[in-house]
Amino acid sequence: LKKVSLFDNLNDEQLEHILRISHRRTLPQGTTLFYEKEAGSTFYVVLSGSIKLFTKSHAGEEKVLSLVNAGESFGELSLLDGLPRSASAQTLESTTVLELSSEQFMGLLQDHFDITRGILAELCRRLRATNDHVNDLTFLDGRTRVLKNLIALANKNGKRDGNLISIPMSLNYDELAQMAGVSKAILSEVIRELESRGVLQFGINEYKLNLAKLRG
Ligand code: CMP
Repeated sequence: LKKVSLFDNLNDEQLEHILRISHRRTLPQGTTLFYEKEAGSTFYVVLSGSIKLFTKSHAGEEKVLSLVNAGESFGELSLLDGLPRSASAQTLESTTVLELSSEQFMGLLQDHFDITRGILAELCRRLRATNDHVNDLTFLDGRTRVLKNLIALANKNGKRDGNLISIPMSLNYDELAQMAGVSKAILSEVIRELESRGVLQFGINEYKLNLAKLRG
C-alpha cells in the first residue's frame, strides 16, 4: 500500500485502516471489472498487474483510453458525479486490486485532505493527458502518433539497458492502434518500417526499442 501514490502521506495506522475497510481481490487476465454506462459503486486501487480502460463506439469499435499500473487507481468519476461509468475496465494480466465502496471512498476524502488533493491532482493529470491526445489527433500524422505512443509506453512500463528499452507487451495490435488513434493498416506499416530500421525488435511477450537507432 506504501507504493500507492494517493496514500503517500498516510501513516502506518491509517494504511492499516484502509486495508481493514477495503476488499482485496485477485483477478485473472481478461476479467471485466465493470462496463461503460453501468452505475458505479466501487473505487479501485491496483496493487499489482495492469488494467485497460476503454470505451466502445456504436459499431463496437474499441478505444483504449488509458492503462492503469500497480500503485495507480481508477473508478472515482462515477462516485464523485453520480453519473454512469465513463469507460469499461478489464485486466490485461493477473491483477490484484483493493476495492473501496462509495461510502468508504467518500469517508477517506472527507477525513484525509492529502487523499482529496491526490485525487484532484490525478484528475488534473488526466485532463492534461487528454488535451495532449486531442492535440496529437489534430496536429500529428499517424506515424508520429504511433511512435509517440510506443515511446510513452517505454517511459511508463519499460526497463532500460543501455540503448535498449524492453517493454512488456500487454497490448495487442488492435489495442495499440486504438491508443494511437490509427487504423491497423497504418500501425502495421509503421511497425514494419521501424523493424526494418532496427528501431523496434519483437521478442516473446515484449518488444525492444533501440534508442540509438530511433535517434538516427
Ligand atoms: P468511472 O467513470 O467511474 O469508471 C471508468 C474510469 O476510467 C473513470 O471513473 C476514471 O477513473 C477512468 N477514466 C475515464 N476516462 C479516463 C481517461 N481519459 N484517462 C484515464 N482514466 C480515465
